[in-house]
Amino acid sequence: MTLTCTSCGTPHFPHEIQTVCSQCGQPLRADYFFSPEQLDPTEHLEDHPTLWRYQAFLPSITRNFRISLGEGQTPLLERIFKGVRIYFKDESSNPTGSFKDRGMCVALTMARALGIQKIALPSAGNAAVSASAYALAGNLRCRVFLPTGIPDNLAQEVSDNGAEVVLAGSTIAEAGQRMAAAMDDSWFDVSTLKEPYRVEGKKTLGLEIAEQLGWAFPDYVIYPTGGGTGLLGIWKAFKELRRLGWVNQDLPEMIAVQTNGCAPVVAAFNNHLAETSPWLNPKTRALGLNVPSPLGGRWMLSVLGESRGAALAVAEDEIDAARVRLNKVAGSQAGPEAAVAWRGLELLVERGLIGEGKRAVVLITGDDRRYS
Ligand SMILES: Cc1ncc(COP(=O)(O)O)c(C=O)c1O
Ligand SMILES: [Zn+2]
Repeated sequence: MTLTCTSCGTPHFPHEIQTVCSQCGQPLRADYFFSPEQLDPTEHLEDHPTLWRYQAFLPSITRNFRISLGEGQTPLLERIFKGVRIYFKDESSNPTGSFKDRGMCVALTMARALGIQKIALPSAGNAAVSASAYALAGNLRCRVFLPTGIPDNLAQEVSDNGAEVVLAGSTIAEAGQRMAAAMDDSWFDVSTLKEPYRVEGKKTLGLEIAEQLGWAFPDYVIYPTGGGTGLLGIWKAFKELRRLGWVNQDLPEMIAVQTNGCAPVVAAFNNHLAETSPWLNPKTRALGLNVPSPLGGRWMLSVLGESRGAALAVAEDEIDAARVRLNKVAGSQAGPEAAVAWRGLELLVERGLIGEGKRAVVLITGDDRRYS
């Protein structure tokens, strides 16, 4: 495995602690040298009921470093909606109730393997709960910077996990600025895409979806987009599966859905730009999507383009009703971020852009426990 800059291509050495590209500051991507013997799926998956089943697609590390709380292997629920075959990937059964556990599991495992002892991040909520739980399990110190408006039960959960909580600013972006000013280099920053392995953890979502579909791809993936790690990880999984020949179908169209309260990716996509510009005055009830200036903007836009996908924004005032409809159709207890993805799917079907007989995976990225 090697680490390559997603923008300028500069290689970085994976056996050392790496953050972003030393030349241009953009995220690094893990690239694997798969061997020709890896052609048979059945021989290369671990019989393990967690995301470590896909160890063959992850950086190789000694097993002792692995942290696991039982993440991954979540259900893929099939429904028919207006003639479209919908697959809900319901991530709410992860240990801390969201898909963030996949990324934190692999990132904190790698941090441990590289000798890191202290991690820090700003978070809109779910990532902090997840990071604190994995830090506790992995015996790492953890400090999180949370916006002041976050629900009390969430900050409590983080501190119950033994993490230090700093309340700072009104958005994750402001909390991140406070963190940058306050922290010295002894703390490792596990913010979205500031290290390369959260994406690798999220990649297991794509591997799992393909396996659950019988080593096949859907036609579309509908993703509620904030920092973008899931979108990037799922796409990366599909490309690796194609390269290995485990799936020999056309790659799906990746669809990023945001809300009109914070839609930097949609704005850049619609204007055919290669980079996002900061979204001014972001405000959304889908807290996980309140990312006004995503570090992975450039990478996401290249994936949307390469997959011939799309990006669309749904209205803030439609989210609550969409959540009720989603939970009825899927039988889930999804939070508002997933409702954004569902509203996006409804609009695409209404507009005839996703037609009858097509197969669309909709991400239910997290549960509603912090919102109820
Ligand atoms: C429930 C939920 N869905 C979606 C997202 C967006 O994820 P990403 O930042 O990987 O795009 C988040 C991020 O906090 C989240 O908590
Ligand atoms: Zn670079």
